[in-house]
Amino acid sequence: AAGVARNDDGEVAVQGLPVSELAREFGTPLIVLDEDDFRARARAFRDAYDEAFADLGGGVDVYYAGKAFLSVDVARWVTEEGLRLDTASGGELAVARRAGVPAENLGLHGNNKSVAEIETALTLGLGRIIVDSLDELERLGAIAERLGVTGRVMLRLTPGVHASTHEYIATAHEDQKFGLSMVDDGGGAPADRAVAAALAHPRIELLGIHAHIGSQIFDAAGFAVAAQKMLGFLARVRDEHGVELPELDLGGGYGIAYTEQDTPRPPAELAAAMAGVVRETLAEHGLTAPRLSIEPGRAIVGPAAFTLYEAGVRKTVQVDHPEGTLPRRYISVDGGMSDNARPVLYDADYTAVLASRVTDSDAIVSRVVGKHCESGDIVVRDVYLPEDVAAGDLLAVPATGAYCWALASNYNYLGRPAVVAVRGGRARVIIRRETEDDLLARDMG
Ligand code: LLP
Repeated sequence: AAGVARNDDGEVAVQGLPVSELAREFGTPLIVLDEDDFRARARAFRDAYDEAFADLGGGVDVYYAGKAFLSVDVARWVTEEGLRLDTASGGELAVARRAGVPAENLGLHGNNKSVAEIETALTLGLGRIIVDSLDELERLGAIAERLGVTGRVMLRLTPGVHASTHEYIATAHEDQKFGLSMVDDGGGAPADRAVAAALAHPRIELLGIHAHIGSQIFDAAGFAVAAQKMLGFLARVRDEHGVELPELDLGGGYGIAYTEQDTPRPPAELAAAMAGVVRETLAEHGLTAPRLSIEPGRAIVGPAAFTLYEAGVRKTVQVDHPEGTLPRRYISVDGGMSDNARPVLYDADYTAVLASRVTDSDAIVSRVVGKHCESGDIVVRDVYLPEDVAAGDLLAVPATGAYCWALASNYNYLGRPAVVAVRGGRARVIIRRETEDDLLARDMG
């Protein structure tokens, strides 16, 4: 399961650094990111896909989805490991630029990009801009004409796949905001109209098509169906327009283990399964292999970090059960929904361990909660933790690398936590903790 390792004293440690030392030096809540693990996961994706698709000849690019967690250092690691970077806003692009990521390695997503974001992307000469709608295609074409540049475009399509994940993070069914529909709306399918318009536009170079079916997905079937539909679409484009579009992006969405119940498949297995489907479908349509790309975010950064909290107050309540009442112990920590909104947003499950010491006291049913002014402010809904957990103990919540700091807020005027990266047995701050001065810096009163 989502893991943390202990040293000989029984204390949770990263590359030999015990959590008590990290907490003393950097404070809590603290996001501890194992840089070596992050890099290894990035490489594992790249290698797995390179190998699985090698015989198809089209090649593979792995774009790290920066939305999961991005900092200037992270953008550099990704580049050093031979990955590209997927951004989803002008802000994420700004981070990539500060990191010196070459423009041709960058993609820009977004269902409602601003004129300024499109101008920046076009002026920088981004490797690809993923266009989400007919409106946007028209807007981008006009801006490219005005600037006298050519935009390299991928079209994001909606392959109509129902990914088995939380409703808010499934993105390929018809009735949601992303992408160009492949269903005829009376005037043909928007996806077809976009292809025709893009091919006809003198300032647009149409690279290919893109689909992202959702996030935290375990079942390879959704990816397979999406791949089949997208390749079928490429075959239709060839038949109707006489062009074989050179690129196909199948998005991200690879699930990770948050608790023992989660059993994701390793990248190599997924890659092999996908390559199998792609190989068959290419043959079926007599298509040349396009260059493939994927956009994993969570699966690279999620398991590489844990959050360290300090335990505070406790209380025990009696909870009604069919067999009578049972005690549930609450442990409050010094962060909560401001540094991890996923439990409250998606009912996400996490686990927690007593990290600063070992004990032989009995494990009891516990709920780890934050310090915010809401009863929904839950960090871990149900977990067995030693009965003697007390104020000042450190708790570690594994697998918090993705969409935790990225979704962090200043609710109740809490500062966002620091992020430290551990490499070669040394920890350094890559994003510093927000201070009260930071919190007041933009208040004009
Ligand atoms: N590509 C596109 C176009 C995306 O929209 C996303 C995620 C990804 C790639 C990366 O997906 P990943 O490999 O990380 O699953 N906040 C939610 C997840 C939102 C995902 C948004 N898009 C959560 O915490 O579960």
